Amino acid sequence: MRERSESGRAAGVHLPWSEVPGHVRAWAGSLGAIRGARDTEGGFSPGCCVLLELADGRSVFVKAVGSELNEQSPDIHRQERRIAAALPLFPQLPRLIDAYDDGDWVALAFEAVRGAMPRHPWVDAELQVVLDNVATLHERLTPCPIDDAPLASVRERAMLDGWHVLAAMDRPPPGLDEWCVRHLDRLVGLEELAWGAVGGETLLHGDIRADNMLVDGPNTVFVDWPHASRGAPVRDVVGWAASVSLEGGPDPETLLGRYRLASGMERDATTAVVAGVAGFFVHHALGPPPPGLPTLRSFQGAQGRVMVEWLRQRTGWR
Ligand SMILES: Nc1ncnc2c1ncn2[C@@H]1O[C@H](COP(=O)(O)OP(=O)(O)OP(=O)(O)O)[C@@H](O)[C@H]1O
Ligand SMILES: [Mg+2]
Repeated sequence: MRERSESGRAAGVHLPWSEVPGHVRAWAGSLGAIRGARDTEGGFSPGCCVLLELADGRSVFVKAVGSELNEQSPDIHRQERRIAAALPLFPQLPRLIDAYDDGDWVALAFEAVRGAMPRHPWVDAELQVVLDNVATLHERLTPCPIDDAPLASVRERAMLDGWHVLAAMDRPPPGLDEWCVRHLDRLVGLEELAWGAVGGETLLHGDIRADNMLVDGPNTVFVDWPHASRGAPVRDVVGWAASVSLEGGPDPETLLGRYRLASGMERDATTAVVAGVAGFFVHHALGPPPPGLPTLRSFQGAQGRVMVEWLRQRTGWR
C-alpha cells in the first residue's frame, strides 16, 4: 500500500482486480468477455476499482468490496447502487449497467467515463469548468429527482455533530486547536443551525472531491454517489472547499465566490454549514484510523485546519 501524497490524494489503497474473489469476477465476465483489466488509483475505500476492456470494444468500470475489507463498505456500495440506479441521464452523471450482491460481496458496473481527474495543483481554467459543472449538476438535480433520497437535514444531524461530541467530553481532547476550545459553546450553536441550513430541494452528491470527478473537456462527470441526499447546494460546495485549497487551488471563500449559484445563499446559513463541516473534520481527525482506510485521518486533519481558518474569517471571532 502506498501512502497519501502531499496533495492529499490517496493512491494505491484499492484491492487489485486479481485479488477479487472468483465469483465476483465471474459476474463481471457475464457482462462480456474480458480482454484486459486496469486497476485505478484514487479514492479511499479498500475495495477494488477497475476498468475492464471487453472483447466487443466496450469499457466498463467496476467497483467491488466484501465485508472482510471493511465491515461498512458493502452497505455503502448498496446505497450507491440504489442512488445510481435512479439517477437521470445527464452528461454529468455516471450510468450504472449492472450490480452484484451475494450478501457479502457487492459489486457495481458502470459505463466507463472518458476523462481524467483534475490536475493538481489546480489549473484555474479547469477549476472553473468543474465549478460550472457543479452548478449545472445542482440546477439539473433540482427538484430532487429521487423521491426517497435521504434528507440532508436528517442525515447531517448525525454527520455534522463534531462540536457537540467534543463539547460533551469531560475535557477537550489533546490536539484540539485552542481557538476551537475557546469558542466550543458557540460552535455547538452554529452546528445546530447547520442542520436546518442544509435543507433544500436539490439532490446533492455529498462527497464532491477531485477523486470523485472526471474532467473531459468542457464536461465533468461526478462519480461515487453513496452519500447523496436531498438538500441545499451550499452543502456540496462547502464540503469540497477545503480539499481544493489543499490541492493548490484557491482558498474556500474565493472558491465559493466563483460558484455561480452562490448569490442565492444566505450568509449566516453558509457560515453555519462551514461550522458544521469544520466540526466533522476536526472531530473525526482525532479518532483512530478505520480498518482498511489508513490515510483518512491525516487528510481529515488537514481539511479541518483549513475549515477552522475559514470559520475564523467568516465569524470574526478572535
Ligand atoms: N464510471 C467510471 N469510469 C471511469 N473511471 C471511473 C468511473 N467511476 C470512477 N472512476 C475512477 O475510479 C476512481 C474510484 O471510483 P469511486 O470514487 O467511485 O470509488 P471509491 O474510490 O471506492 O470511493 P471512495 O472515494 O469512497 O474511496 C475514481 O477516482 C475515478 O478516477
Ligand atoms: Mg471516490
